[in-house]
Amino acid sequence: MGIALGIDIGTSGTKTLAIDETGRILASASAEYPCDHPHAGWSEQDPELWWKATCETIKAVLQIAQIKPEDVTGIGLSGQMHGSVFLNQAGRVIRPALLWNDQRTVAECDEITRLAGGREALVGMVANPAVTGFTAPKILWLRNHEPENYQKLKQVLLPKDYVRYRLSGTYASEVSDASGTLLLDVKNRRWSHELVGKLGLDPSILPPCYESHEISSQVSPIGAAESGLAVGTPIVGGAGDQPASAVGNGIVRSGVVSATLGTSGVVFAHADSPDFGPAGVLQAGCHAVSGAWHTMGVVLSAGGGMQWLRNELGQAEVAEAAKRAVDPYELLTAEAAGAPAGCEGLIFLPYLTGERTPHFDPYARGGWIGLTVRHERRHLIRAVLEGVTFAMRDSLELVRASGVAVRQVRLSGGGARSKFWRTMQADIYGSTVSTINAAEGPAFGVALLAHVGTGVYATVPEACAATIREVEHIDADKTVEKAYDRSYGHYKAAYQALKPIFSEMAAD
Ligand code: XUL
Repeated sequence: MGIALGIDIGTSGTKTLAIDETGRILASASAEYPCDHPHAGWSEQDPELWWKATCETIKAVLQIAQIKPEDVTGIGLSGQMHGSVFLNQAGRVIRPALLWNDQRTVAECDEITRLAGGREALVGMVANPAVTGFTAPKILWLRNHEPENYQKLKQVLLPKDYVRYRLSGTYASEVSDASGTLLLDVKNRRWSHELVGKLGLDPSILPPCYESHEISSQVSPIGAAESGLAVGTPIVGGAGDQPASAVGNGIVRSGVVSATLGTSGVVFAHADSPDFGPAGVLQAGCHAVSGAWHTMGVVLSAGGGMQWLRNELGQAEVAEAAKRAVDPYELLTAEAAGAPAGCEGLIFLPYLTGERTPHFDPYARGGWIGLTVRHERRHLIRAVLEGVTFAMRDSLELVRASGVAVRQVRLSGGGARSKFWRTMQADIYGSTVSTINAAEGPAFGVALLAHVGTGVYATVPEACAATIREVEHIDADKTVEKAYDRSYGHYKAAYQALKPIFSEMAAD
């Protein structure tokens, strides 16, 4: 009986789980770590934290389910996308990694667009415009701002690929995560030597690139000693957390899209061909399914917005939750449920770390708009939930406009845990929403990829069909939908009105 491990290197923590051949979860464990914001708009993490959390959670999972290391037949890795781990000749980390929500590279994005020969030429080469969170602008930022570090640069890895390197001693990536570097020829599923050349980068800083289910490396003696795994255990390519989550949600055919509310919020659509609709409007990439692609809209502060609210204004709920041994988010959403849909004219813009889709605006800012003395705490909380969900609707509308006939939206991530937020999503999206049996997202998705790579299943769609089923459907309520439509109109207009002020504020 094969046992696969799925490891997801997230922004707020790492989660590891073990599944058997039927997809049954044998054990799971997580370990949290912080994220540094040394300046407004900057977001960094020390890769050592990911490695420590990986070892800790692997050991915990093996122990909880009493799994012998040699019974693990394959490992899948998933992780926050777009991050940059800069390594020197000796394979040591040169400086903290810049993360997906880091906004410092506005000038480098302009530089890339210019060197590529314009936006259209760039999108033609790598299927995406230059976006501040992507990896390539971070490499140019290192070249422009820390030349002494750039001199030392020999290898650039994505977060999960750094963990692969620590487990196996091998530099490798795979097509789904590599799509978010801005250096992959997404259509042909290989590095874009054309763009790498135009940017004046050395192609040897990029690792070999595999398909997501292919075996990329094996656990090394050093990796085994630190993680508790057996030497030689195969590690498949794995996937960026969003394509991995899509596999874990069974988004491996057209028509069903997923809406995942983690720190970021993502609306993800499968594509049978690299024909992505209007150029550069949605993020485009290779899917973790060979021969398939995807588009997605990304909200930078989704669950992250709720986390901010909990940390900064939810002290009472955090204390009460500790007493009652419940999740503080449960208490916050229960309070929000006491306010009406549309929050009596109050809206919240969730752009706490700028915004990617649909505005591509690193200077966008957050805030409540429309406050009156009638508004209470419950309105403030509900407005945050609604604002984040409106931001997701922006992406869903772009997916619909790109030609995807959305029949159903499959929900996952922390935001899918609350019935209240699931119902709100159905009403705001104007669509039936569903949830599935396996709520473990990216870690589950890459464990399935490991099963495919080691021959338990022939294909990713086959693995999904055998292990994933829907367990709940919620239809949109037409009357509530109307109240939300009105608020959504105000929400969209508010950003447009405030955009020039946000850019001025960023210059302060
Ligand atoms: C996807 C993205 C985020 C990160 C962090 O493009 O930027 O979803 O992967 O989860």
